[in-house]
Amino acid sequence: MNEVYHIPAMLQETIEGLNIKPEGVYVDVTFGGGGHSRAILSALDNSQFTMNNEQRACKSSVQKGHLYSFDQDQDALANAIDDPKWTFVLSNFRYLRNWMDYYGVEHIDGLLADLGVSFHHFDCPERGFSFRFSAPLDMRMNQTAKRTAADIVNTYSEEELANIFRLYGELKNGRAVAQAICRARAQKPIERTEDLVAASRIPEAMSKELARLFQALRIEVNDELGALREMLVAARDLLKPGGRIAILTYHSLEDRLVKNFLRSGNLEGTIEKDFYGNNLSPFVLIEKGREASAEEVARNPRSRSAKLRIAEKKP
Ligand SMILES: C[S@@+](CC[C@H](N)C(=O)[O-])C[C@H]1O[C@@H](n2cnc3c(N)ncnc32)[C@H](O)[C@@H]1O
Repeated sequence: MNEVYHIPAMLQETIEGLNIKPEGVYVDVTFGGGGHSRAILSALDNSQFTMNNEQRACKSSVQKGHLYSFDQDQDALANAIDDPKWTFVLSNFRYLRNWMDYYGVEHIDGLLADLGVSFHHFDCPERGFSFRFSAPLDMRMNQTAKRTAADIVNTYSEEELANIFRLYGELKNGRAVAQAICRARAQKPIERTEDLVAASRIPEAMSKELARLFQALRIEVNDELGALREMLVAARDLLKPGGRIAILTYHSLEDRLVKNFLRSGNLEGTIEKDFYGNNLSPFVLIEKGREASAEEVARNPRSRSAKLRIAEKKP
């Protein structure tokens, strides 16, 4: 692969914030190009390299300083790492709990989620994530999933589309865009990226609005918020006391969800207090929405929307 698969955002800040224990068990639920995973692995204990085969076969040695990396996109396998401390899980991270049960992992020392899509998704024309290229309207991160973006724009009601555009894309004129799409699809199904651009009636010069439209659809196609909710609950239950969870978010809706969850420890965002008014959240906040430095944004403009949130599980 000649393209840059991904440039990780806030790499150093994230790894430092995870406070990695060399003998710990870690999970990177969004492997992508493997930039964050490689950095985690280099902080883990390397003593396994000197073990003999018998020791390596024993489960406790596999548990010592180990990283499990998830990605639901099989393209990420092109970045696989040759390291006995590393296991790749080709799966949606919503199944985190099941996979940890499968590997016999009861507790983890830390988890990283660098949410959303990779540069590869945006820059690979045939995946249909970007309005910059003519391609089938696909947008599935998991290429074996059934529902594509074309299925959604051709079958959802005007009301459903308007809600998605407003909620996930924060499009102010979401209703008008949904109406225009429904009118256009009555003439001819919307099958390609350029069909959607034309149907939406958003002028091509308004690239920010088009990006919001495509983002909204992508979030719906991949049920990004549903998967995030399930993963957060599993991560909370798997984390050891003192273990850390680091999450990089890229748009306000997912950021709000993560912020409320890390403050309260629940999906409702309800902060429970004891008789004396002490916050009963299972987490202590370490990073509260840190942004990339101006220098990083200049080097990697796609890091400009990243927000880093880190929390530690209380004893
Ligand atoms: C922003 S990239 C991560 C980049 C990575 N940190 C790196 O250093 O290259 C997000 C990755 O997570 C994957 N992903 C997104 N949502 C997922 C989910 N629900 N389950 C599994 N993988 C997911 C995407 O396929 C993509 O490869």
